[in-house]
Amino acid sequence: MKLTLVATCMFGLEKLLGEEIDALGLSRLDTMDGRVTFEGTEADIPRANIALRCAERVFVHLGEFPARSFAELFDGTKSLPWEEWVGRLDAFPVKGHSIKSGLTSLPDCQSIVKKAVVERLREKYGISWFEESGVKYQIEFFIFKDVAHLMIDTSGVALHKRGYRPEAGAAPLRETLAAALVYTARPREDILFWDPFCGSGTIAIEAAMLVSGRAPGLGRSFAGEDFANIPGTLWDNAREEATARIRTDCKFEVYASDIDEDILDITYENALRAGVEEYINIFQADARKIKKEDRKGTVVCNPPYGERMGEREEIERLYQQLGGSFKALYPWQIYVLTSCDRFDRLYGQRADKIKKLYNGMLPCYLYEYFKPAEARDEKGRTAKEIFDRKPDRRPETHPDRGSDRYPADRNRKPDFGNRDRKPYGPRADRPYPPKKKD
Ligand SMILES: C[S@@+](CC[C@H](N)C(=O)[O-])C[C@H]1O[C@@H](n2cnc3c(N)ncnc32)[C@H](O)[C@@H]1O
Repeated sequence: MKLTLVATCMFGLEKLLGEEIDALGLSRLDTMDGRVTFEGTEADIPRANIALRCAERVFVHLGEFPARSFAELFDGTKSLPWEEWVGRLDAFPVKGHSIKSGLTSLPDCQSIVKKAVVERLREKYGISWFEESGVKYQIEFFIFKDVAHLMIDTSGVALHKRGYRPEAGAAPLRETLAAALVYTARPREDILFWDPFCGSGTIAIEAAMLVSGRAPGLGRSFAGEDFANIPGTLWDNAREEATARIRTDCKFEVYASDIDEDILDITYENALRAGVEEYINIFQADARKIKKEDRKGTVVCNPPYGERMGEREEIERLYQQLGGSFKALYPWQIYVLTSCDRFDRLYGQRADKIKKLYNGMLPCYLYEYFKPAEARDEKGRTAKEIFDRKPDRRPETHPDRGSDRYPADRNRKPDFGNRDRKPYGPRADRPYPPKKKD
């Protein structure tokens, strides 16, 4: 049956999620903040749940209608074919949210939607009492600009929970956001991929999963597996399709390092659970001292923010120090995700691109560096020294800073670092795989 499906995501990931949907051969219908609507069949529900790296959930969209009043919400909900999905014994809890709409009381909307579905099913099944002891069909309403969208959640546990990270560090990155950073950095087998602030290893693991073709949902189950409309064979087929895409000849290499030796056991355990430990070289290192190897490389990281870990001054000093060590990695590309809206100033180099993203509810910026750091200007000043002095005629690239300007990146010279130094590698005193703790 032709269905309308909705994949939700964190704000800022809609474009990448849309591209993932295209890659599954499905047609997009609409994109709005935090959700992409597309066409599919029952067979595409398992495919989307298993394969989408940036999605939080996949819903079946039952219908939409104007809902400026509770009466409209009730009538519109009641008009939808709930009996096509929900059986007479099944459970159908309701939740949802409302944005830029007249109906603002969520508990009231929730109980109206519930009553309308009960009313519809009562008429269809000829019963007045619903046991709700069977399969759970989580109903979700989303009211946006006075239009209600009614959906059934097919994912259950949110899709960022891949199953490989029961344990995480103090400030772990959501897996879906890590996947988005990885997509942005376009990892390739011939390029070393390095997260020097790896924590529990999320970015490194998502990179290894992407390049080795391992679907994010292969290690978990989904609410839709119990749905009568989605037979088990469809889930089996989708898992087979995803398994067939895993590459056994992959030569991708990832470095995952952190200053905190203790977190690295968790990194390893997570990589093991994700089935990608063979690609990831885990070792202890201070990111301020990492050295470029004599090969192409990309750094993607999420250093401490200051909001959640460490003190602000200390974090700012760290960002300044990274301005020395990371710039020496050129021509490697550098991607840094932080909530600090002046990271580039502290780092001392204007980013080539800045993307606004959200880590949970926290607004963040992905600072992307592809070009050489400017060395010194004609007066011998560093980027840091000339920051804020000269107006820049180029348009501001920071999404949240409209008015101020940066110094122009004139007289840039590539900084190839010290080629005589030995390549940095895993520490000999940290055996790989790491020894388990008692
Ligand atoms: C925000 S957390 C990274 C979270 C990680 N992306 C994850 O998903 O678990 C920052 C990490 O940076 C590490 N760190 C702090 N200072 C460091 C330094 N100078 N060098 C390397 N790692 C450092 C911390 O130990 C912490 O694990």
